[in-house]
Amino acid sequence: MKNMLRITLFLTGGLLLASAQAQMMKMPRQDAATQPDKHVAATVAKTRSDVVFPPLVKHQALATMRMHLQGLGEIQRALAEHHFDEAAQIATMKLGMSSMYGNQMEEEARYMPPGMKQLGAQLHREAGEFALAAQDASVSGNTEKPLMLLSRMTQTCVACHATYRLR
Ligand code: HEC
Repeated sequence: MKNMLRITLFLTGGLLLASAQAQMMKMPRQDAATQPDKHVAATVAKTRSDVVFPPLVKHQALATMRMHLQGLGEIQRALAEHHFDEAAQIATMKLGMSSMYGNQMEEEARYMPPGMKQLGAQLHREAGEFALAAQDASVSGNTEKPLMLLSRMTQTCVACHATYRLR
């Protein structure tokens, strides 16, 4: 009986050791798997174009960016709750043309390279399209189109961030 116990303990210990070893062997592999990502991030950072905004314009632009991000989060919540009209309203106010004060857009556009201007205009256009699709969904209940447009908007954020940075 005692021997049986000893054998069981020995086997269990062996298994634990083996799984610990497997874990350790996995770790470097996981590190290796994340390496290419880091490499890509570094490459992107090096090749982004610097865009120079005057300090006040930059301050405003970043505040609007933070509002955009907040808007995306609120839209996701509104969609999950099937509050489609609210989702449309958030898109209009926080990501569309009305998300910018007075002549903020023209002011920023003066310092933007053409590609950046295009992406900015694209985001506002997509926000408008999203608002329409969300309003449609409030009648049809079909979330497919608003979700697709939400993902497209997010890709526009990513595209601009991957290409430009503010100085
Ligand atoms: C036309 C280009 C463009 C688009 C489109 C764009 N951004 Fe940005 N955003 C920038 C730039 C440039 C910066 C500064 C990044 C840097 O200098 O590294 C920035 C910075 C930010 C920041 C950081 C703010 C801070 O306080 O530092 C957030 C958050 C952000 N963007 C969110 C978003 C979200 C969310 C979207 C899409 C809904 C979006 N942006 C779309 C250009 C853009």
